[in-house]
Amino acid sequence: MAKAKTQFICQNCGTVHNRWAGKCDGCGEWNTIVEEDPMGGIGSGPGKTPKKGRPVTLTSLSGEIEEAPRIPTGMGELDRATGGGFVRGSAVLIGGDPGIGKSTLLMQAAAALSRKGHRVIYVSGEEAVAQVRLRAQRLHAADTDVLLAAETNVEDILATISEGKRPDLVIIDSIQTLWSDTAESAPGTVTQVRTGVQAMIRFAKQTGATMVLVGHVTKDGQIAGPRVVEHMVDAVLYFEGDRGHHYRILRTVKNRFGPTDEIGVFEMSDKGLREVANPSELFLGERNAKSPGAAVFAGMEGTRPVLVEVQALVAPTTLGTPRRAVVGWDSSRLAMILAVLEAHCGVRLGQHDVYLNVAGGYRISEPAADMAIASALVSSLAGLALPADCVYFGEVSLSGAVRPVAHTAQRLKEAEKLGFSSAVLPAASSELPKGAAGKWNEVESLPDLVARIAGSRLKARSEEAGD
Ligand code: TYD
Ligand code: MG
Repeated sequence: MAKAKTQFICQNCGTVHNRWAGKCDGCGEWNTIVEEDPMGGIGSGPGKTPKKGRPVTLTSLSGEIEEAPRIPTGMGELDRATGGGFVRGSAVLIGGDPGIGKSTLLMQAAAALSRKGHRVIYVSGEEAVAQVRLRAQRLHAADTDVLLAAETNVEDILATISEGKRPDLVIIDSIQTLWSDTAESAPGTVTQVRTGVQAMIRFAKQTGATMVLVGHVTKDGQIAGPRVVEHMVDAVLYFEGDRGHHYRILRTVKNRFGPTDEIGVFEMSDKGLREVANPSELFLGERNAKSPGAAVFAGMEGTRPVLVEVQALVAPTTLGTPRRAVVGWDSSRLAMILAVLEAHCGVRLGQHDVYLNVAGGYRISEPAADMAIASALVSSLAGLALPADCVYFGEVSLSGAVRPVAHTAQRLKEAEKLGFSSAVLPAASSELPKGAAGKWNEVESLPDLVARIAGSRLKARSEEAGD
């Protein structure tokens, strides 16, 4: 039998290379390729004599569908992100930067489930028992029946969780510390992580226990990232947030049993994560009706509307090349809006520095924010505050036209709920709520919007002159 060849595997994306290279062709990352021995792991290739296959019964697409049995944690934001609770027998991956609060979230979930009488096992491979206990005390979870183990060996973990009554939930914190005797690579490599995760998934499928796997997002490729196992698990959630801010977002990126694009919002406090049922309040910041350059964007996160304040500062530059700095939004999208303002609206920004910030450390990814951004920019340039009770949304195209976006009614409902009585939105928006006409100002193009803001300036000036 030929000796198994070693492979070179990118620790970031899992691409297999024939020889070592400084840069991975798959993901473009540097220094992430590590030599691994594929023996025993997945992808170890055809092994010994192939076993004779057994035919399975083929079936049709129609037929009985069983609702996936779920165990809700009672933590509303977590259940929302998972689509109504953890599905029995499924594997969920929770990824995130180190220190973002994954262990905290899962300890709270474990405690909540344990209080409901579920059998929960927490396997910590990173922290010693004493450290986990300390966190549990801080989170007021120490009095629950969560079972704890500090272990990293896959075979030992499997033996432990197979013993006694079947657990309802097993938490493995983290997959990067798992190592198996059957894989020969070093712990933390793609082969080890995949082997460990595969073994855990098999346990979940066989026993019906829910397996929650924690994975650290890694930048330098020293250890394998959670990406390399995303395809194997049933659901992938990412826990995100800015270290400088308290809020955290649990974002669903894959879910075989529910919707993706959902988010759960939490706030990190000294007693653990607090659920934020109304995220808009968090991102609106302290609103000052008199300051120019602030506009409120009525956005959507999955099925949930979120109001966020965007702030712009436009000031004459002292440098040869004006500065453009963006926090919380795409900088190329800003360049596009600036170009459209110059080309179609006669707004000259070539001699101005432009700074843009999204309040609360939030990140906007929707193109619907274009109109709010443009309004904030024009407002700052004109030195004129926008009405404090108005929200903005709409996508701007390169021609200067404003395009309608989805979920108009939901955005407006959220705005009304939070005390905003008017909105600037694209003309021809469908699903406009009836009976509220007049409060919604429809604009067809970006020049329309600029004229509206500049018009209010003239009005303000004439009022000043009249005083
Ligand atoms: P942790 O859950 O250990 O992060 P991860 O598992 O993702 O690496 O959380 C780490 C941070 O959270 C740490 O910096 C301390 C902070 N923290 C609080 O602010 N309040 C708390 O109640 C707890 C338990 C942690
Ligand atoms: Mg942790």
